[in-house]
Amino acid sequence: MLRSVRPSSKNATMAMRSMRCLSSFNEIPLAPPDKILGISEAYVKDTNSKKINLGVGAYRDNTGRPIIFPSVKKAEQKLLEVETEKEYTGITGSKNFQNIVKNFIFNNSGKDVNGAKLIEEGRIVTAQTISGTGSLRVIADFLNRFYPKKHILVPKPTWANHIAVFNDAGISSDFYAYYDTKTNGLDFANLKKSLEAAENETIVLLHACCHNPTGMDLTAEQWEEVLAIVQAKKLFPLIDMAYQGFASGDPYKDISLIRRMNELAVEGKIPTYALCQSFAKNMGLYGERTGSISIITEAKETSTAVESQLKKLIRPTYSSPPIHGSKIVEQIFANESLYQEWLTDLDSVVGRLNTIRTALYEKLDKTNYNWDHLQKQRGMFIFTGLSKEQVIELREKYSVYATEDGRFSISGVNDKNVDYLADAINKVVSK
Ligand code: LMR
Repeated sequence: MLRSVRPSSKNATMAMRSMRCLSSFNEIPLAPPDKILGISEAYVKDTNSKKINLGVGAYRDNTGRPIIFPSVKKAEQKLLEVETEKEYTGITGSKNFQNIVKNFIFNNSGKDVNGAKLIEEGRIVTAQTISGTGSLRVIADFLNRFYPKKHILVPKPTWANHIAVFNDAGISSDFYAYYDTKTNGLDFANLKKSLEAAENETIVLLHACCHNPTGMDLTAEQWEEVLAIVQAKKLFPLIDMAYQGFASGDPYKDISLIRRMNELAVEGKIPTYALCQSFAKNMGLYGERTGSISIITEAKETSTAVESQLKKLIRPTYSSPPIHGSKIVEQIFANESLYQEWLTDLDSVVGRLNTIRTALYEKLDKTNYNWDHLQKQRGMFIFTGLSKEQVIELREKYSVYATEDGRFSISGVNDKNVDYLADAINKVVSK
């Protein structure tokens, strides 16, 4: 005889719990594709042999392929020879990597006396992070814990992921004016007005160079005016520097904002700020996820506390950063000839971007549209000024993939597809 088995109350509770989970998972709404990486996903599915991917900000050579910098390849080969272990690095990365970043960016390899002073006085805390996004998230979490004003102003427009990073970390956000879509240029008067209208001590996000997505940077004089407002309103500057080297081809020439910030930090006028940096673009270490966060403090004792809190924050998040990319960076900076070769590699990457930018500009029809802004923009992108509808038309009719804000990652353009692209843009614009 079969006896009916009554579930024990413990089993019944477990069954009910899993039912509840299942039904609540069933109610999860579909998230939209990522505004940038979703473009690459759609591009992969397109079967048109003429398709062009101008979505993600990642370098392609003139044959349309991603590259490994020759200097990086050599550093990896060297690493393979000398590496004897794969131990965890420290929670904030190795001391060697931290010192390289400090020397490279703040000491400007011996040319920045103010940065050198900050380092000597123990006023810079640097932690290796999971590239630029990881660095933004670490500082966002840190500010949420320790900074009284949990609100950030970001330029309009800004990198599509900035707002998500800050909002997910509990920091609310708003825009300050940056770009005028009518003139395709900086909206400097309104930029100043919106910063002047900010509440005191708000966090303000500044792009160090090659503003993403517009490629339009402030002049030294304009930075002075902005930094005067930062001082007057005691704003907390958070600087994002993802494209160091892409404005001029020389990483040291692109950090004039950092040099000025160091001077102001030494003078006590802007005593504290933070810098997010990565080697994703300027060493081509994208997937190696190699970057850093640096926090400039007012005193050595503060640095010690800040560093301890960064460790406390990072440890339960991802424990410690990955080591392969940071070891490549360490190899390059340890070897003078590799280092010189890297600077040359970077310069030639930027040179190709500038050449292809000009080639595209020359092929664009200027009868009904002024394309001169392309020549003023710097870095990995052109901000075309095309409308969302025009971008969608380019995608649907010509298989040209770009983000819907009209940003084109210029490295997807090469000698073979520049005519096709210019022709497609000309057709869409002339309608
Ligand atoms: C971009 O802006 O396309 C890059 O920074 C890549 C990314 O992660 O969005």
